[in-house]
Amino acid sequence: MTVDLSTTYLGMRLPHPILPSASPLTGDIDHVLALVEAGAPAVVLPSLFEEQIDHDAMAVHQGLELGAGAFGEAPSGYLPLLDDYNTGPGHYLDLVRRVKNEARIPVIASLNGVSSGGWTRYSKVLAENGIDALELNIYRVAAGVEETPSEVEADYLHLVETVRAAIDVPLAVKVGPYFSAMGSFARRLGEAGADALVLFNRFYQPDIDLATLSVIPNLELSSRYELRLVLRWIAILHGRIEPELAATSGIHEPEDAVKALLAGATVMMMASALLRRGPQQLTWVRDGLERWLTENDYVSVAQARGSLSQASVGDPSAFERANYMRTLTSYAPSW
Ligand SMILES: Cc1cc2nc3c(=O)[nH]c(=O)nc-3n(C[C@H](O)[C@H](O)[C@H](O)COP(=O)(O)O)c2cc1C
Repeated sequence: MTVDLSTTYLGMRLPHPILPSASPLTGDIDHVLALVEAGAPAVVLPSLFEEQIDHDAMAVHQGLELGAGAFGEAPSGYLPLLDDYNTGPGHYLDLVRRVKNEARIPVIASLNGVSSGGWTRYSKVLAENGIDALELNIYRVAAGVEETPSEVEADYLHLVETVRAAIDVPLAVKVGPYFSAMGSFARRLGEAGADALVLFNRFYQPDIDLATLSVIPNLELSSRYELRLVLRWIAILHGRIEPELAATSGIHEPEDAVKALLAGATVMMMASALLRRGPQQLTWVRDGLERWLTENDYVSVAQARGSLSQASVGDPSAFERANYMRTLTSYAPSW
């Protein structure tokens, strides 16, 4: 019997739940076509950065360029030139059109704004130009020592409410994990208008270069271990808040996608593994997910979704324990 992998995410009916997330791969039509060939049912485009549009200093772009040398394992040909990494709204809308016309799959555009006017203005521009859904990439380090958590959260919520009021396409919000009360904040993001939460954004951590005694932006591809934090929060939130949950960070192998599904993810997104290994890694993960579900007697992804969420497991405190005494005290050095 075949397993039904179909999934509805942000109002889109998809044949399976493995999606390429925002990265330079999805910013290039030839790579998008290769991803579709590998089975991608929809794509999240790289973020349109407001700074980019305004031609201001583009710290993110610089970060990406500096990080490019770190992709030692990337087979040549799959790592697009970062110089071409979406260069403004005209180019971006052209990419939306080409993905719709040539790849014929749903398009989730991504926006990273700075000013409140910018977020709404460009959300509207994107929504009016044929996208199927919008992902807000809210990416900010709350570095102000006077700024309180409630002020930071209020800013995020206001932004989501404002964009929600401005557009009528489905809206996803991608945030990082660094909130003191993630559960309540996630619920309030839903109440503010997010149809889905994309968990979690990764902050690119700056490093210190000891040779030049300077701070350097640094972008590393993810490791599989990073999925653990995502699993914890998706498992805790599944079934308890309105928005759908998309898993991003550390999904490299079929087992990672299976775990995210069992925790409660609606879709599982991939970037680093596709940059490292190429589009065929998506096929591998999709096929492996199907194989695992078949071998474990599930009839559909819908049946498996959330079956190991906090609400479903025998020991619900397992996802909440941060300092598990027995694990910590029994750790033995390997030498
Ligand atoms: C080179 C690179 C560029 C990225 N660009 C974006 C972006 O423009 N917008 C965004 O929301 N996320 C961006 N991401 C984050 C990915 O979409 C993804 O959420 C993150 O890398 C974690 O998933 P992974 O473990 O599969 O890489 C980028 C990641 C990489 C590695």
